Amino acid sequence: MLMWTDGPLCYGGDYNPEQWPEQVWSEDVALMRQAGVNLVTVGVFAWSRLEPAPGRYTFDWLDQVLDLLHAGGVRVALATPTASPPPWFSLAHPGALPVTADGIRLHHGSRDTYCAATPAYREAALRITTALADRYAHHPALAGWHVHNEYGTTCHCEHTARAFRRWLAARHGDLTALNDAWVTSFWSQHYSDWAQISTPRATQYLPNPGHLLDFRRFWSDTLLTAYTEQRDRLRAANPALPVTTNYVLGGWVPVDHARWATEVDLVAVDHYPSAVDQGAEEQTALAADLARGWARHAAVHRRSAAPRAGAAASTWLLMESAPNQIHTAGRMHTKEPGRMMRHSLAHVARGSHGALFFQWRAPVGGAERFHSALVPHAGADSRVFRETVALGAALRRLTEVRGDVEASVALVVDAASAWALRHPGMPSTLPDHHDELAAAHRVLWHAGHTCDTVTPGDPLDGYRMLVLPAVYLVDDTTAGWLRGYVHAGGHLVATYLSGVADEHARVRLGGYPAALRELLGVRAEEFHPLAEDDHVRLDDGATGRIWAETLRLSGADTVVSYTGGVLDAMPAVTRHRVGTGTAWYLSTRPDDTTYRRLLDTAARAAGVTPVCPDAPEGVETVRRRDGDASWLFLLNHTDHEQHVPARGVELLTATPVERAVTLPPGGVAVLREHKG
Ligand code: GAL
Repeated sequence: MLMWTDGPLCYGGDYNPEQWPEQVWSEDVALMRQAGVNLVTVGVFAWSRLEPAPGRYTFDWLDQVLDLLHAGGVRVALATPTASPPPWFSLAHPGALPVTADGIRLHHGSRDTYCAATPAYREAALRITTALADRYAHHPALAGWHVHNEYGTTCHCEHTARAFRRWLAARHGDLTALNDAWVTSFWSQHYSDWAQISTPRATQYLPNPGHLLDFRRFWSDTLLTAYTEQRDRLRAANPALPVTTNYVLGGWVPVDHARWATEVDLVAVDHYPSAVDQGAEEQTALAADLARGWARHAAVHRRSAAPRAGAAASTWLLMESAPNQIHTAGRMHTKEPGRMMRHSLAHVARGSHGALFFQWRAPVGGAERFHSALVPHAGADSRVFRETVALGAALRRLTEVRGDVEASVALVVDAASAWALRHPGMPSTLPDHHDELAAAHRVLWHAGHTCDTVTPGDPLDGYRMLVLPAVYLVDDTTAGWLRGYVHAGGHLVATYLSGVADEHARVRLGGYPAALRELLGVRAEEFHPLAEDDHVRLDDGATGRIWAETLRLSGADTVVSYTGGVLDAMPAVTRHRVGTGTAWYLSTRPDDTTYRRLLDTAARAAGVTPVCPDAPEGVETVRRRDGDASWLFLLNHTDHEQHVPARGVELLTATPVERAVTLPPGGVAVLREHKG
């Protein structure tokens, strides 16, 4: 199989020729060549143009587009258009329209308006997939397949309820096990027949936590089956072409991305920051580190390893990003000049084999007509297109960069914990696995450390420090995995709400966090959730937010105590030495300055040093390494000129660097480092 990662860095994005008259297509290809675009994903939402009536296919336009792209040297990730069924489908199959938890059936008029558990939808999706596979699987323009778009929809219809029951029976075996897992003795919820179980629809008061959690797991698996069905059709037509789908990130997504990673030939992620300040760069780094973590997880767990000649196992692809605007609530923020380059290179630094965008050309109409594009409404004579050309040139100069990303810290990510913490009956709505993950990542990012992300059970060799951010569900296997890490000399930093419940979201007894109590050397009796604008004071002058606990020591030492209030003088942050390893516990969320000081202390003790200890704050530094060769990415996110001591050859300007790199405000540099 020839992977996208085998060739030069990928550059391009979603190309929607169906939105434009034919005359524009040749100009598109000419502009793509000018910009150095080498990969476009075509037809993502083109179902109604490809199949205007049931079983009637109109492929002539796509034939033409693919031929044009091929002649222009642009490779194609051909999409299956199944994220947006045509109006005729919804009319013919009203039962395939999705139903919300409130029982409202949605109507056609946007995208993603289907129920992926409904046979009619799945059959129609497979039909158009097969038609595309039959016609294009051997087209010379094809580099691979892009299945669907951002799987993540759910539904509460009767088809879903039936599929859910089947899934539950397979997971739990019998009703006794299910009743036990869901603790249905509470509020008279005992099920005596499978038919009594519905999806967790809107109900009178708090829903059952086990029920909700299993529903998310069910959707992850159901959507995965919808994906693998298509993938298998496409593979059967031409096993040499890689198949993937683009992940959408966010706490709401009912997809276990780690589990999915073992079923795609290449992890592909869409990323759109939501912050306009430096939060955008923090989010970008985290998204990339997540993607790399899933790719590495897949390389370890994939049943049949996909061949990836020349590329590190942790290589992934940024499938979508925004050339320009950052979308915030109610307003689009125009990205400053140079920011598209910095965001793209941040992804490449962190293992993406290139940078793809949504979208190639800005449309005149449609819901996303003001979304940014590489060719904006202003046309090619525009700042954005000039930056597009510059980015294409930069990526070409980075062709030699390869290898894994250097990281000696890992953060644990767990989809099920994120889902379970969102149950409305938690002691507070504030704690959030992704938020806690982002806080630790942000602090480490500012301190100049590169972090990997891992899924419970992944190999931990080489990580001197491991952060466990509100990993609420810890089963016995995961508890053993963490114990093994610390006993082997690892340095673990666990935050509040880690290890409190088992895999069914049942609270573990005997004092929190029961699964980790012994390892952490602490025991919490009571939680003290804080109001959003509230904080607790710590005896080093710092503050804690979100959460606090009545914590007692059972082997650990106190590092920081609470001061004032009911928790006065009680431990807030603890450290437990276990052989040569250490297990830290944070029972509150310290402010960023304190958090950084604590993580710096833990990192120093663990022997973790920043990528570039002399780099100034605000310059992101990431190293890729392949054997003896290494490349250092330097991204200046500040408004000032910055100097970073380094030696090598700067690849973007092909300039030797003897002592230090000078980065203009917002500037970037990539060094092939000299050894020694
Ligand atoms: C993505 C989606 C694209 C486009 C984009 C806008 O999530 O895949 O189709 O809608 O968002 O930011």
